[in-house]
Amino acid sequence: MLAAPDARLGDTTMGLTDGPGPFGVLLQQYRVAAGWSQEELADRAGLSRRGISDLERGQRREPHPSTVRRLAEALRLGDIERGGLLMAAQPRRSPVATTPRQESDFSHANAVSSPSWPLIGREAELGFLLSSLERVAAAGRGHLVFLVGEPGIGKTRVARELLSRARAAGFGALVGGCFEQYAGLPFFPLVELLTQAWQTAPDRVREVAFKRWAELGHFVPDVLRPPALSGDDDQLRIFRAVTGFLRELASERPLVLFLDDVQWADSATIDLLLYLVRHVSDSRTLVLASCRDAEPGAYDGLDELRGELVRERLLDEVSLGRLTPDITGVLIRSRFDTRVASDEFVNLVHARTEGNPFFIEEVLKSLVEEGTLFLADGGWQWRTVDEIRVPRSVRLVVAQRVGAWPDVRLGRAPGRHGGDGGADPGPP
Ligand SMILES: Nc1ncnc2c1ncn2[C@@H]1O[C@H](COP(=O)(O)OP(=O)(O)OP(=O)(O)O)[C@@H](O)[C@H]1O
Ligand SMILES: [Mg+2]
Repeated sequence: MLAAPDARLGDTTMGLTDGPGPFGVLLQQYRVAAGWSQEELADRAGLSRRGISDLERGQRREPHPSTVRRLAEALRLGDIERGGLLMAAQPRRSPVATTPRQESDFSHANAVSSPSWPLIGREAELGFLLSSLERVAAAGRGHLVFLVGEPGIGKTRVARELLSRARAAGFGALVGGCFEQYAGLPFFPLVELLTQAWQTAPDRVREVAFKRWAELGHFVPDVLRPPALSGDDDQLRIFRAVTGFLRELASERPLVLFLDDVQWADSATIDLLLYLVRHVSDSRTLVLASCRDAEPGAYDGLDELRGELVRERLLDEVSLGRLTPDITGVLIRSRFDTRVASDEFVNLVHARTEGNPFFIEEVLKSLVEEGTLFLADGGWQWRTVDEIRVPRSVRLVVAQRVGAWPDVRLGRAPGRHGGDGGADPGPP
């Protein structure tokens, strides 16, 4: 009853082309979100447990539409999810089949481990985001949604989920990542995003772009020669070109644009974001931006951007909190079998990590590495311990990611345990 092989814990290369395939991944996500076992889903959908298992493992990748409908009904999926499931069941030549380009949408360094692990919990947040997508697609009411939360809380993961659902429902989905070390480079994330936009643009839109928006050449110089910079209105011309191009794309099919980690966006990108959001308010374009929680004023330009767009009713915010012990248990059970995920074990992990998913993953990985979690008799077992000790290497990784938390989250400094850099039992 192994939920997944240990090699997949933290695997950063695993794409949806491997393993269960898009249909299996989606089905498992929906089932886990419903809190059902394979048997329960099989009962409700009038299918065999073996059938469900085959679908989730990718043994069967293209089920008959009537099977998909039964599953969607049993899972009480909404229209977008139902459409996504149906499209994921299409033969691989369909647009939703995973292609290398889709994977590379998340190629920037913050793209995180195994995209095929199911998203756990977050139903309310995802539901809100899906309704934003619907509003954009149905009523052409473009706006910005800020996805905020502490480091490692799951902003990128939730955005990834939304993008995959959006793609499955026929949206164009484009991604640009910001990085601390490139915060000074003008328009850094836009280069990634507009390169994808150009690659996926239909010929008609490209032809319009050739005629009207030569400034796009600043982002895709291989295909368009940018005009020489001339003075004061350069920036405005660039804003107009980018906005015009994206609006034209959205006239073909609705768009979702995701900017990851905008706390590190350069100031030109922030200015463009403000301009763009104001000029897509009547277009089928949802802009999603993830941002780490911070005190007001911590990140240049973001407070102003948020203030302006809130006043203009063009901004929604979705805040991600820490996982409860129950949801932490579901997350652990999604990766290990139930013998491991006893309440006692879940409580230990939750107490040690306070429900931060990144920290949970790192702790689980270290428990496998040190042998507290181990494979025996065809399943995972855990060597009972009173407390979960976090090795120094993991504390360093977490400290690098979460910056300001070490005192609270990582317990006493190694020196207070003899300075040997060994495991830290955490706060007293
Ligand atoms: N709800 C969830 N279900 C399953 N896995 C999750 C969930 N939330 C986060 N994770 C996993 O936890 C890890 C951290 O999540 P993620 O990278 O999305 O955090 P983040 O908020 O974007 O952090 P940062 O601010 O550092 O970019 C990832 O491996 C992600 O897949
Ligand atoms: Mg992230």
